[in-house]
Amino acid sequence: MAIPAGTRLIVQLLGICIACFLSINGVESNPSSEAVFDIFNYGAKTEPKFDNAQAIIKAWKAACESSGPAKVVIPAGDFMAGEVVFSGPCKAHTTTVEIQGHLLANIDPSTYTSGAWIMVQRVDNVVLTGGGIINGEGKYDWKYADGVSPLPVSLIFQEVGNSKAHNLKFVDSMGFHIEVMDSHEIDLFNLTITAPGDSPYTDGVHLTNNINVNVTDSVIATGDDCVSIGHGNQNIVVARITCGPGHGICVGNLGKQADEKDLKGVTISNCTLTGTTNGARIKTYHDSAQITASDIVFQDIQMNNVQNPIMIDQHYNSTTTTAQSKVKISNARFVNIKGSSASAVAVSLNCSSAVPCEGIELADIDLKPAGSTGPLTSACSNAKTVLKGTQSPPGPANCL
Ligand SMILES: *[C@@H]1O[C@H](CO)[C@@H](O)[C@H](O)[C@H]1NC(C)=O
Ligand SMILES: *[C@@H]1O[C@H](CO)[C@@H](O)[C@H](O)[C@H]1NC(C)=O
Ligand SMILES: *[C@@H]1O[C@H](CO)[C@@H](O)[C@H](O)[C@H]1NC(C)=O
Ligand SMILES: *[C@@H]1O[C@H](CO)[C@@H](O)[C@H](O)[C@H]1NC(C)=O
Ligand SMILES: *[C@@H]1O[C@H](CO)[C@@H](O)[C@H](O)[C@H]1NC(C)=O
Repeated sequence: MAIPAGTRLIVQLLGICIACFLSINGVESNPSSEAVFDIFNYGAKTEPKFDNAQAIIKAWKAACESSGPAKVVIPAGDFMAGEVVFSGPCKAHTTTVEIQGHLLANIDPSTYTSGAWIMVQRVDNVVLTGGGIINGEGKYDWKYADGVSPLPVSLIFQEVGNSKAHNLKFVDSMGFHIEVMDSHEIDLFNLTITAPGDSPYTDGVHLTNNINVNVTDSVIATGDDCVSIGHGNQNIVVARITCGPGHGICVGNLGKQADEKDLKGVTISNCTLTGTTNGARIKTYHDSAQITASDIVFQDIQMNNVQNPIMIDQHYNSTTTTAQSKVKISNARFVNIKGSSASAVAVSLNCSSAVPCEGIELADIDLKPAGSTGPLTSACSNAKTVLKGTQSPPGPANCL
């Protein structure tokens, strides 16, 4: 079909315009065109007793309010800081915080009001990166841990969208290291999280009430859960985590509070757990709200000298009440779990008599006793279970 000359000209002009639009966008997305906000320009000092929180917050506000992509830089050096809040919404399309140096928390717990040391809230398109260290200095504050009022979390994402944290080292948080809550499209990867094996409540990553969160390619060694996935989460991926020491990787706790929401869609795969007190675990409280936990998969997990490698515990914290858990667990699969168990009951499916577990699958389970642990066994109550492939120890005959 012949195209009239006039139309051809319009098509050509349109082509030029699309090309010029693309090239402008190309320049903007080039990292070198990010506006840089160095904390030294906002009053930061490396003096050990100088609190840099205000300098960091001022640099963030300037970056947040600038019109194009912006980057806060925390350069090499030691920077002590109390509570830092990165709040939005921001004008900038992407706001990066590049932590090259060593951030050290103010060790006075009374300087924290939000529950976090670094709080990222009500903002989209944030990237935390830079190769630096986020040191919670928890050794000065763990003595205050009582399991009731939590110590500050090193990093909280709250009501955050389309954001990432990667290439960072977290050390010795006061409370949890990282918590993501009420957020969506969050990618956490290439993190190293370490605290002593006996440090209290120092979970690596805890998730509450999020949609689409990935936690991958990280090394986590703490005194509590490496990754814990609480209520209200949907579509969560945990993969390629090296965990231990610590309490393993768990879905839970569920059912502690009355207002909790259903959990659906958690896949934990390609992880290696070494010397942890639990492995792949789902835990719920007695006397809980009526919620559901469904579509949970633990797959391709290597257990090395792990106590309780496979565990559903619906009697968590059961000393306090006899009322059964009302968290309904369904479609929970444990697939290709290999390695060694440090306790004799390697598989324990202990579900609620009020709402028995349904659709539990054990497939290709190949666990050997670690050290002098006797022959391994399975235990089960109130769980409808399907067995597939290898079953070592033998699957629980009373629950099929
Ligand atoms: C992971 O992060 C560290 C800094 O913590 C960095 O040195 C390393 O290159 C990163 N690895 C990848 C694959 O990006
Ligand atoms: C999470 O990983 C999956 C692939 O496993 C990918 O499709 C998805 O976009 C990722 N989500 C985020 C928020 O990074
Ligand atoms: C897990 O590891 C297997 C074998 O290395 C690989 O084929 C698969 O893609 C990995 N999956 C994830 C989610 O990392
Ligand atoms: C067990 O439940 C009681 C009562 O709700 C609570 O005070 C206590 O902190 C809980 N213990 C744990 C380990 O959660
Ligand atoms: C389940 O847990 C309860 C409470 O801890 C315990 O008394 C019971 O023996 C357990 N059942 C199995 C099958 O492990």
